[in-house]
Formats: sequence, C-alpha cells, structure tokens
Amino acid sequence: MARIPVVGGNWKMNTARSEAQDLLRDVRARLDGIAGVEVIVFPPAPWIADAADMLCSSGLRVGVQNVYWEPKGAFTGEISPVMIGATATDVLVGHSERRHVFGETDAETNRKLRAVLDAALRPTLAIGELREEAEGGQTEAVLRRQLLGAFEGFEALPDNLIVAYEPVWAIGTGLAATADDAQERCALVRRILAERFNHSSADACRVQYGGSVNAENAAGYAACPDVDGVLVGGASLNGASFEAICRAFVA
Ligand code: 13P
Repeated sequence: MARIPVVGGNWKMNTARSEAQDLLRDVRARLDGIAGVEVIVFPPAPWIADAADMLCSSGLRVGVQNVYWEPKGAFTGEISPVMIGATATDVLVGHSERRHVFGETDAETNRKLRAVLDAALRPTLAIGELREEAEGGQTEAVLRRQLLGAFEGFEALPDNLIVAYEPVWAIGTGLAATADDAQERCALVRRILAERFNHSSADACRVQYGGSVNAENAAGYAACPDVDGVLVGGASLNGASFEAICRAFVA
C-alpha cells in the first residue's frame, strides 16, 4: 500500500515573531507546490495565525504543538482544539517534551487525542522510549504501553492519524538512530497497530521517525520501507535544511 510521506517541522519554543515570519516566507518560497510529500509546520502557538495567513493556498499545512482537551472554559493558559481549528489543521499529541518535561501521562494523551479527532483536526501522535528504557531492553514494552494508552477505548485506528516514533535519546542530541534502527522501530509500531486494530489500517497509517534528523541523514530514512517521513526539530528552523529533508522524501 502506497503511503504518501509526511515531514513535520516542530519549531518547539523558538523564533521571535519576525524570525517566524522570515522562516515562513522562506519555507513557502522553497516548498510551495511540492508534490509527493506532505509538509506540516508546527510553529509556536502565538504565530499560528501568521503561519495560516502566510502559507494559505501553498499546500503546506499548519499545526500546533500541543492542545488541551476541553472545548472552552476556565482553563487558564490552555488552548482548545476548537480554537485551533480556526487556523490550523494538525496537532502534535504526546510529544516527548510534553511527557517528560511536563509530566503528561498516557491517559492525558488519550484525552487529547480524542479531543483533536472530535474537532476534526489531524493528530501526529508522538511516542518513544528514554535512553535508560532502550538500554534496559524496554523499547518494545514502552512503545506498546504508549500506543495502547493513547488508543484506550478506540474502536478503530483513525485513518488520518500519523504516528511519530521519536526515541527520546535521539532528540536534540545529534545521536540520530541509524536508518536500520528507525526502520525496525517503525515496523514494530506498525505491528503493534496491526495487533491492536487490523493489518489494513496499520498498513495505511503513516509512521515517522524523529530525533536529530538533518539534511545529511534524511535520505537514509527515506529509503526505509516503513519510515513514512520524519518529524524534525532543530533542522526545521533552517529553511534550506528543511527543504532538503522534505525533498529527500520525494520519490
Ligand atoms: P530534533 O530534530 O531537534 O532532534 O528534535 C526532534 C523532535 O523532537 C521533533 O519533534
């Protein structure tokens, strides 16, 4: 089954407004109309409206990095999926920094995932093991727990959902997983999805790798049959690098 690769650029908590606008302009100039790969930029929430304006009719998608699960109310500082739906199409759910810096649980990830889908937004569900879990041979158990927790109560695998496998030890460290390891783990994610749901939905689901992806190593991941794109942090802050990564996935 042919899966269209998808590349996400997670800017995290970076860019002043003018820097964000410059980067959006640059990304648009470089990637407007690109075919054969889907591109999502995830700027900081305050620049989402700028991103939506500057990327409109470009074919490039705009996402947010986090969301709360309630539609509105007394939740100071939070952003609801309904609000996001006015400007963006995609949402990151369960990023490792949400889990490990802010202590988000699998149960909270589950609530966020449901809220994103209820608001007709498209989730990128991020999962991944810590260094000590990898070293202790726990990777499969951790990925299984995170996936089963995120999908608790789901009857079907949502057909627009993207899974991003991001080993925490590879994020922001320069210690990218080898292409072979990324392939093996993305295939493992797909096997777990097939067990939990069924083979056809698991085959259709796009699974990305993330963690120290750059312009040099992207082609290695693009060559892997089960790696359907990448989720990029640091290198997405540079238009030329991000363009090279996106183009590595164009068949
Ligand atoms: P880096 O590409 O900076 O390692 O970050 C990866 C990431 O966390 C993307 O969500």
